[in-house]
Amino acid sequence: MTTPKVEKLLINYKTLEKFKYFKEYGNQELSMLEDLQNNIVENDSESPFYGIYFGNNLVARMSLYTVKAKYDKFFEPPQDYLELWKLEVLPAYRDQGYGKALVDFAKSYNLPIKTNPRINSHSFWEKMGFQKAKYDMERDLGNNPLIWMPEGVTEKEV
Ligand SMILES: CC(C)(COP(=O)(O)OP(=O)(O)OC[C@H]1O[C@@H](n2cnc3c(N)ncnc32)[C@H](O)[C@@H]1OP(=O)(O)O)[C@@H](O)C(=O)NCCC(=O)NCCS
Repeated sequence: MTTPKVEKLLINYKTLEKFKYFKEYGNQELSMLEDLQNNIVENDSESPFYGIYFGNNLVARMSLYTVKAKYDKFFEPPQDYLELWKLEVLPAYRDQGYGKALVDFAKSYNLPIKTNPRINSHSFWEKMGFQKAKYDMERDLGNNPLIWMPEGVTEKEV
């Protein structure tokens, strides 16, 4: 199988319409739509989302933010890292490597990655080489973050 092509998604009405097919559709998408409607962002400006198209359909997506080193509470030494969320593959397209392709794309930046996994997705993340962050009550509250580290990076002691 050829590696699926990961694309940076643009903020436009077409993309926002396709987002409605994903379960994790909420404030982030709605505020992007509002920004577009109110001309706060331009049509075709860049979003924090990356996705994979199959023909005309957006079949997988994730949101990726860079968190600045000064806010890093996970890694040693403190450094810029990626916050990955809203990873989702549409049901008919699962188990075909799209989820992995998106995670591999995030890893290709060679920065540490943090994600808050959804219930039942632990074995997928384990396969992707993610591990549980040591629980820090103040930092994590109710979350159970998972992290991935490129070579040379270690987890911060809590
Ligand atoms: C989790 C999710 C992103 C995975 O995407 P995907 O495209 O189906 O995954 P891939 O095809 O890239 O799978 C990569 C590897 O992870 C494995 N895998 C995928 N989903 C898995 C799961 N739920 N549990 C365990 N392993 C899983 C695959 O078998 C594959 O293993 P291999 O490399 O040994 O063949 C996708 O299932 C999804 O969007 N789920 C949303 C709903 C959800 O979170 N459900 C909870 C269960 S994950």
